[in-house]
Amino acid sequence: MKIGLFISGSGTNMDAVIRSWRTGRFSRVEEVSFVLSDKPEAPGLAKAARAGVPALVVVRLKGETREAHETRILEAIAPYEVELIVLAGFMRVLSPHFLSRFKGKVINIHPSLLPAFPGIDAQHQAFDHGVKVTGCTVHFVDESLDGGPILLQRAVERRDHDTAEDLRLRILAEEHELLSKAVELITTGRYRVNNRYVSCGEES
Ligand code: GAR
Repeated sequence: MKIGLFISGSGTNMDAVIRSWRTGRFSRVEEVSFVLSDKPEAPGLAKAARAGVPALVVVRLKGETREAHETRILEAIAPYEVELIVLAGFMRVLSPHFLSRFKGKVINIHPSLLPAFPGIDAQHQAFDHGVKVTGCTVHFVDESLDGGPILLQRAVERRDHDTAEDLRLRILAEEHELLSKAVELITTGRYRVNNRYVSCGEES
C-alpha cells in the first residue's frame, strides 16, 4: 500500500513514519509516496527531501475557499494513488469535499487524550488545566474537529516539576511510537470499527 503524509510544521512525526518505513517496520507499506505541506516554510519539507520523499506544497491562496484549496490538494496528490493519508501535524480541518474522496482512509495524530483538549496547543491546554495525566491519540478523521473514532491512545503523566515544554516533549516521543503503530494497524487491516469503537488485532 502507498501512503502520503500531510504536515504543517517541524515534521518530527513525519520523520518517525518515514524512518519506520525505511527500516522495514511496516509489513504492507510499499512506499511513503509524498509529504504535502500547506506551509512553504514548514521545516518538515527539507527533512522529507533529505529522506528522499517527494515534498509538495499547496498553500491556501488569499480569498480561496477551503473546497478550492482542497481540490488543488487532491489534484497534486492524485498521481501518487495513495490509499492512506496520515495527518502528521497538519493544522487544517479537512472538509467533506476532501474526506469523501478518502473515506475512512485519513488518520490524524493529536497531542492529548481526546476528547479532552481538541484544537490547537492541546499540550498547553492540558498543562494549564492542571491535569495529572494527558497523552496522545491517533484517530480517524471526519469532518469534526479532532472528533473521529479513536484508533490508539497512549497516556503520559505530568510530573510535579514539569514545565509545559517538558510535558510537550514527553508526549511527542510517545506520538512518534504511536503513529507508526497506527500506520501498521491500518495498512494491515487489523482493526474493526463498531459504533465508534475501534478494536485492534482483528481483520476488518
Ligand atoms: C504534534 O504534536 C501533533 O500531535 C500536533 O502537532 C505537532 C506536530 O509536530 N498536531 C495537532 O495538534 C493536530 N491537531 P511535528 O511536526 O514535529 O510532528
